[in-house]
Amino acid sequence: MQQSTPHPPTPDILILAAGLGTRMKSAKAKVLHELDGRPLIEHVCRIALPLQPRMVHVVVGYQADEVENAIRSCVPPELVSIVNQAQQRGTGDAVMAARDRLQQNTSPVLVLTGDVPLIRAETLRALLDQHRSTGAACSLISTRLENPTGYGRVIRDSAGGFSKIVEQKDASEQEREIKEINAGFYCFDPPKLFQALEQVQPTNAQGEYYLTDVPGILLASGERVEIYLHKDARELSGINTRAELSEFENLLRRRTVRRLMTEVGVTFIDPSSAYISSDAQFGRDCVVHPDVTVEGPSVIGENCVIRSGTRIANSRIGDNVVIKDHCVIVDSHVDASCSIGPFAHLRMNAHVKEGGAVGNFVEMKKSTLGRRSKSMHLTYLGDATVGDNTNIGAGTVTCNYDGRQKHPTVIEDDVRIGSDTMLVAPVTVGKGSVTGAGSVVTKDVPPDSLVAGVPAVVKKKLK
Ligand code: UD1
Ligand code: MG
Repeated sequence: MQQSTPHPPTPDILILAAGLGTRMKSAKAKVLHELDGRPLIEHVCRIALPLQPRMVHVVVGYQADEVENAIRSCVPPELVSIVNQAQQRGTGDAVMAARDRLQQNTSPVLVLTGDVPLIRAETLRALLDQHRSTGAACSLISTRLENPTGYGRVIRDSAGGFSKIVEQKDASEQEREIKEINAGFYCFDPPKLFQALEQVQPTNAQGEYYLTDVPGILLASGERVEIYLHKDARELSGINTRAELSEFENLLRRRTVRRLMTEVGVTFIDPSSAYISSDAQFGRDCVVHPDVTVEGPSVIGENCVIRSGTRIANSRIGDNVVIKDHCVIVDSHVDASCSIGPFAHLRMNAHVKEGGAVGNFVEMKKSTLGRRSKSMHLTYLGDATVGDNTNIGAGTVTCNYDGRQKHPTVIEDDVRIGSDTMLVAPVTVGKGSVTGAGSVVTKDVPPDSLVAGVPAVVKKKLK
């Protein structure tokens, strides 16, 4: 495509996503199964957006509400057009359900399959360009597969032009030998598409209305049908089974890890056991040990060490952080130069500020630990705000829940919380105070005080 020629008006896109996906053996619609942490349908929608479509129509049916939610999470609302297919009677019937929205269009409609998540926008653009330049009524993408089992085969005439598509279940033994398959991506002239669809009959092995009959019908009525033969078969493979889903997961994971090693400079001790979301970002010189999972758009700073068994999801980690073995960090924030774990659990917007340390079997929920503060052993900090230079002794619990409501705990700067202190919230421990081991703190502690006992009382003023 030449840079200088402005692109013609953008097409409408129609994504087919109403089917159950019987071969997944699942109660969940196939397009809701996750790949790289996102539902399949989201992958296809994200591929469609760079084409700058006028509208993205999605045919939904099985688990329509859930599929619609997934679509709305990634497509701008003004572009979303949801089409309901009441009964899943085949891909031809699915397109027919969108008739009212598309039939009058003068620009082509691009039909995408909801279960082929790796297709690139450039490939679709090439299909669209070929469609426009040839003036065809239908153009479709094909590729050659070593093992074409399950796909519709593209049958060519003696001159090498398009003849018809035959589905696997309807194909003769000879036709099954053909390795060129229909990838499930088409460009149509809308009025001609719907005229041809009217003629489609469910007289086939599956008793379905096949969209794949349309190109043959158009050809028979004297229209031009073009094939865009694409070399990268991987890009066009569909996901129909759990085995295929896991193959794709593996492929994407390997791609992400390779990119982080070559482009960013991250060391993976065992790349094959790293599960890193393609949305995650890393700074250089991080070292990732075996069996680490990083999910969602997490951001890891430079020079961090992440030890084995750790899971980080939707979180931000600053530079020079060490995360020891078996930590779970979800929706949380760790500033630079902190040490976390082993066996720490940070969740629901936990925040460890610069130079802080969180150790063995410490859980932080909706809590902040101040600069250079430490909570090293066997502690629960829930709805707590801890100041700077404070030490939380082993076994401390913020008793934040009275059975009905959650209450906050505030521990100010320079505090020493003795081992096994129970802080019955709402409660504040003033700056510079100390609690004795085993204290049960039920009242606010003034600054610079030593409290001890059950319930704790002020024993002496420290200053
Ligand atoms: C389809 C093609 C096949 C092609 C393959 C490429 C047909 C008849 N066959 O087969 O030639 O090689 O894709 O991957 O089109 N869907 C609906 N409503 C329905 C049925 C299906 O919306 O009534 C949706 C599904 O949710 C899915 C897509 O259409 O996203 C394709 O359906 P699927 O059953 O996977 O078709 P394949 O057997 O893979
Ligand atoms: Mg399929």
